[in-house]
Amino acid sequence: MDRKKIKIDLFIHDLKGPLAVVETGVRLLLEKPESYGPLTAKQKKVLERTLRNTRATRMLVDDALELERSREGIVNLTAVSFSRLLEEIFIELFDLIDSRTSEKVKNCAGLAELKEILTERSVTLDIDESLWRREFCLDETKIKQIIRNLLNNAMKYRKHFIEVKIDTNDNVLFLSVTDDGEGIPRQFHKKIFETYFQLGSETGGIVRGSGLGLAGVMVLIEDLEGRLLLESDEGHGAKFCVEVPLYEKQGKG
Ligand SMILES: Nc1ncnc2c1ncn2[C@@H]1O[C@H](COP(=O)(O)OP(=O)(O)OP(=O)(O)O)[C@@H](O)[C@H]1O
Ligand SMILES: [Mg+2]
Repeated sequence: MDRKKIKIDLFIHDLKGPLAVVETGVRLLLEKPESYGPLTAKQKKVLERTLRNTRATRMLVDDALELERSREGIVNLTAVSFSRLLEEIFIELFDLIDSRTSEKVKNCAGLAELKEILTERSVTLDIDESLWRREFCLDETKIKQIIRNLLNNAMKYRKHFIEVKIDTNDNVLFLSVTDDGEGIPRQFHKKIFETYFQLGSETGGIVRGSGLGLAGVMVLIEDLEGRLLLESDEGHGAKFCVEVPLYEKQGKG
């Protein structure tokens, strides 16, 4: 790894310290009213949201470090169910844009209720009940980052709808995120995976974000020895399909 890269990694790493202090402080205010004084319902709500987002920031820092580990080819398999993975992703995603939906997802009882909550936000989740509960050996951090980035893009670029579809066969996870936005002209299908490339800057449209998400997604998918297919035409939405090898809990891993 070159010297500049190590400096950036160290910087990301060092963000962990101050973040931990903020997280602990807010947690103490919430959990120990006997020591720090009682909170009104409104104060409690604000602090709970602060805590969730501090945790989300800490996870992003962990993810940034994970991306670097990934670049070094390190894969870390653990047992995980799609129910936990997707619930966490949706709680985090909506916490930033619509905290009431985030709260609903957090309290939802199961897949059927989650699907209903998401439908209200024009997001369709297509996954079988049996798949929902089963545990697989996956690199949780990497898979979450992949889904989170594709979902963030779909939320950003959709006109109305998003569909998230998850399926498996014996040893492959199929995941797709589809939106009904402006789509991506064919000549840019490769380019959008390069760092800092954004369509708006080419076409004079609005540029939101920094053009890093998909480049990161590609690195992660390559490390998982998977592949990504893009189906999109200008004006007809976009569908990002991911395939990665999957191991049953008792199996390899
Ligand atoms: N679902 C989509 N629909 C239309 N265009 C997309 C979609 N996803 C990505 N793009 C195009 O690809 C570009 C690169 O995407 P990428 O996720 O790498 O960056 P970003 O979303 O602009 O910023 P960042 O993810 O770093 O916050 C985007 O700027 C956008 O032009
Ligand atoms: Mg993005």
